[in-house]
Amino acid sequence: MGKVYYISKNVGLGLLALAAVALVTILALSIAYDKEKARNRGTSGDGTGDSTSMPPTTSSTPKEPWDRYRLPHSLVPSSYNVTLWPRLTPDENSLYIFTGRSTVEFRCVKETDLIIIHSNKLNLTDFNGQLAKLTSLSEATAPAIQKSWLVPKTEYLVLQLQRTLAVGVMYSLHTEFLGELADDLEGFYRSEYTEDGVKKVVATSQMQAAYARKTFPCFDEPAMKAVFNVSIIHERDMIALSNGREIATEDAVVDGVPVRTTTFEPTRRMSTYLLAFIVCDFISIQGVKNFSVSLQVRIWARRKAIDDGQGEYALNITGPILQFYERYYNATYPLSKSDQIALPDFNAGAMENWGLITYRETALLYDPVMSSTGNKERVTTVIAHELAHMWFGNLVTVQWWNDLWLNEGFAMYVEYLGADHAEPTWNIKDQIILYDVHKVFGIDALASSHPLTRREDEVNDPAQISEMFNTISYSKDALRVFSEPVFARGLSSYLNTFAFSNTVYTDLWDHLQKAVENTPGLHIPHTVHDIMNRWTLQMGFPVVTLDTRRGRITQKHFLLDPDSVVDRPSQFNYTWFVPIKWMKTGVEQQQYWLLKDTGEDWVLLNTNVSGFFRVNYDLQNWDRLLSLLNTDHQVIINRAQIIDDAFNLARAKIINTTLALRTTTYLSRERDYIPWESALRNLDYYILMFDRTEVYGALQAYLKKQIQPLFEHFKKITNNWTRVPAGHTDQYNQINAIEIACSTNVEGCRELIKGWYRQWMENPQHNPIHPNLKSTVYCSAIAFGGVEEWDFAWKMFKNATLASEAARLRSAMACTKAPWLLNRYLEYTLDPSKIRKQDATSTIQYIARNVVGMPLAWNFVRAKWSYIFQQYGRGSFSFARLVNGITTRFSTDFELQELKKFKEDNVHVGFGSASLAVEQAIEKTTTNIKWVTANKAGVLTWFTEEST
Ligand SMILES: *[C@@H]1O[C@H](CO)[C@@H](O)[C@H](O)[C@H]1NC(C)=O
Ligand SMILES: *[C@@H]1O[C@H](CO)[C@@H](O)[C@H](O)[C@H]1NC(C)=O
Ligand SMILES: *[C@@H]1O[C@H](CO)[C@@H](O)[C@H](O)[C@H]1NC(C)=O
Ligand SMILES: *[C@@H]1O[C@H](CO)[C@@H](O)[C@H](O)[C@H]1NC(C)=O
Ligand SMILES: *[C@@H]1O[C@H](CO)[C@@H](O)[C@H](O)[C@H]1NC(C)=O
Ligand SMILES: [Zn+2]
Repeated sequence: MGKVYYISKNVGLGLLALAAVALVTILALSIAYDKEKARNRGTSGDGTGDSTSMPPTTSSTPKEPWDRYRLPHSLVPSSYNVTLWPRLTPDENSLYIFTGRSTVEFRCVKETDLIIIHSNKLNLTDFNGQLAKLTSLSEATAPAIQKSWLVPKTEYLVLQLQRTLAVGVMYSLHTEFLGELADDLEGFYRSEYTEDGVKKVVATSQMQAAYARKTFPCFDEPAMKAVFNVSIIHERDMIALSNGREIATEDAVVDGVPVRTTTFEPTRRMSTYLLAFIVCDFISIQGVKNFSVSLQVRIWARRKAIDDGQGEYALNITGPILQFYERYYNATYPLSKSDQIALPDFNAGAMENWGLITYRETALLYDPVMSSTGNKERVTTVIAHELAHMWFGNLVTVQWWNDLWLNEGFAMYVEYLGADHAEPTWNIKDQIILYDVHKVFGIDALASSHPLTRREDEVNDPAQISEMFNTISYSKDALRVFSEPVFARGLSSYLNTFAFSNTVYTDLWDHLQKAVENTPGLHIPHTVHDIMNRWTLQMGFPVVTLDTRRGRITQKHFLLDPDSVVDRPSQFNYTWFVPIKWMKTGVEQQQYWLLKDTGEDWVLLNTNVSGFFRVNYDLQNWDRLLSLLNTDHQVIINRAQIIDDAFNLARAKIINTTLALRTTTYLSRERDYIPWESALRNLDYYILMFDRTEVYGALQAYLKKQIQPLFEHFKKITNNWTRVPAGHTDQYNQINAIEIACSTNVEGCRELIKGWYRQWMENPQHNPIHPNLKSTVYCSAIAFGGVEEWDFAWKMFKNATLASEAARLRSAMACTKAPWLLNRYLEYTLDPSKIRKQDATSTIQYIARNVVGMPLAWNFVRAKWSYIFQQYGRGSFSFARLVNGITTRFSTDFELQELKKFKEDNVHVGFGSASLAVEQAIEKTTTNIKWVTANKAGVLTWFTEEST
């Protein structure tokens, strides 16, 4: 047990920083996956500690430079001229293609007789027997190309020259090429959708991380920044978009085809992974009055979506968010325009291409009538996230992908500030705890977690790069160490210093350190590097234990499974600098330490939940806090955190399960969303473990007792359910209240939702259910209804024109309690005319989530495993989720045996991308069995006593 205190004796809260110097953690970031990275096909997921260390990549460095994944860095590009021509109709071989030509100017900085440049899956035109043309931009002539070839493994075009290139001289390399405009979501690709029964094709792009090389030959590493002069050739009834503003269009007839060439202004110096090229027939809305005139802000989407006003909300908030960031970063928006475009069937969240951000429709479009508050919040936060990258990430870029966590973590943090500025009444910053901190806590508490930082040479080939996007799904936002003003000053100096170039993460620490040193009166006893290294170079986080009797505080590496063994050594012995904000009997304390015996007073640590650690107390203080919760709960400002800490400490066997449960007894008086949500997420595990056992009756009775007042509260403030609560999070809590009240049979709840649903059935053209409540109401109405309700939902599902409405119904149909309906629904998943192939596994998963559906889904999946595997087994992340989903309730020996048998029986078929999930399911089931055995009796007694 280490004891590293972060003590500052002299500096009080009043002196700016300490309040916030709260060494905060840096929270979770890149659960980026959810938000942004889901676009990488088949990799959307929420990284659950599955990544151990990277495999040692190469024991021996390959001899030939073209066998190495990193560019030799002897050539530095300065500008490109790129012309692309995508064909939106298939050629005679029914292939969609694009053609193009590109000229890159580069400087030789190290003598070499090789030109190595990325090129992947492109058919290059032959010039006199070579795949490119080389010219010198100086007096002297360029060396002749002796030999040129492609290296598919490392994705290079290699030119062997007859002489060496001269250091300091500029050359230009010209290529012409043809590529497939495939629907593979990589590089320049094709996206298809149907509008009014007509199939439409869009050419669009996704370059991050390493797909620009699939569009044109280029030096495709983030540090190889250059200026890009782009032209796109397209049909005359289409528009073309790229990173820069359109500056000219020219009509011509090429090969007998009437076309238009759109030319864009030169980009700023930028990385290849941020390029974007789009050809489509979309329209836009633009302009915000209160924004600087020279900046063009546009929102693009399908004509119908724009005509319906769905782009208006995004347009409304983009200007204010950009202005906010300009002030916050103290750096003007670096481009002359900001385009954001919603792509139908874009398999992902969004991508921060500089000046032309791509989104899936649900992340950019908002329909005032059909969309829920949750939909709106998603639009706000995703836009704020992507716009934050325009500076952090795009203007200043990490040198290499190993530092991606900094890019994403940072944007995840700043996103809350931007969104808060756009919607100040939402208190969105409070939700950081729920959305990010708690998620990362879950993952980083495993012995198999890993540190944030990786060495540059540990991340080389594209597979390893894309793994960075999966596994950093856990990053700690190591950034919020200081108060906002100090932080913002350091940041501004960092951004201004490195504009248009690249950095490593320690550059940011340097600039923050400078900002600290330049702040009069701010004294931090350790350097930013010292503090941050402990959070970034070692995995995990501590549980801080305060013993109020002795005034002693200690820290220890927090592990969710007390029996797990950490075999990854840490140079810091798993100790951290933990700055702690605390209060004593309701009074904010001016100093961090030292505590003396606190007597009768109660003490609360981590009051603003700015710290990335869990907190434990001696039993007396726990008792004082719990009794305070039951008498005057508002005094405890971090209630959501107390609840989450208690449940996790109990999982880790640091405190008793009943102590954790006691943090929920006050909920009958709780009206706030965040503590409720925190409690419900934790109780969800109890529901899953016990909803097939005798504990469930008592658990339900207890929940009913706790939720009833909340249900009545909402009934009252919504004037008998006729209004929407005014508060943003109150709207979320209303959903919780109805969902739990109906599931525990609070009087009036089921009648209420049945009535709404019946009204809708009687008049399908007019749905009386508020968008916020639809998911919950559909699910409850189908759960407590019969075949009529189900069949109606099916009909509405088949007729739904809005994707989010179809998704709600598809999920709700899994809520029925009738086994025959569930089995019929399972069969539907095998018929693509009923359930689209891409939705099949998630539908099975929804059914498994239902306590009645779980065994049916399990039987179904076992019976059809080889078929399901053959259909979905390769590469799809949802496949792993399917296994996770079905086995979450597993907690008996019998189920464990079944699972093991399933594994044995199907060795010859295999498990594909679910292999790891099967192993984890076995491990989790084992853990669940242990937990249930240890806790069942105690939990039953507790719920029984508390529910009467
Ligand atoms: C790109 O095109 C412009 C205008 O045609 C020309 O001036 C410039 O030299 C070209 N640059 C490269 C790298 O070919
Ligand atoms: C590229 O060339 C290969 C070999 O000639 C051919 O099989 C392939 O179809 C070509 N690719 C495209 C997109 O035309
Ligand atoms: C956008 O802003 C305008 C003007 O403030 C307002 O009337 C309109 O309701 C806003 N639209 C949305 C969808 O928020
Ligand atoms: C903002 O940036 C300018 C120069 O880029 C600098 O002079 C000024 O001090 C900065 N302001 C703050 C508050 O950092
Ligand atoms: C870690 O522990 C070792 C052995 O106890 C000790 O020598 C070393 O100084 C410790 N390192 C830190 C950073 O505390
Ligand atoms: Zn991002």
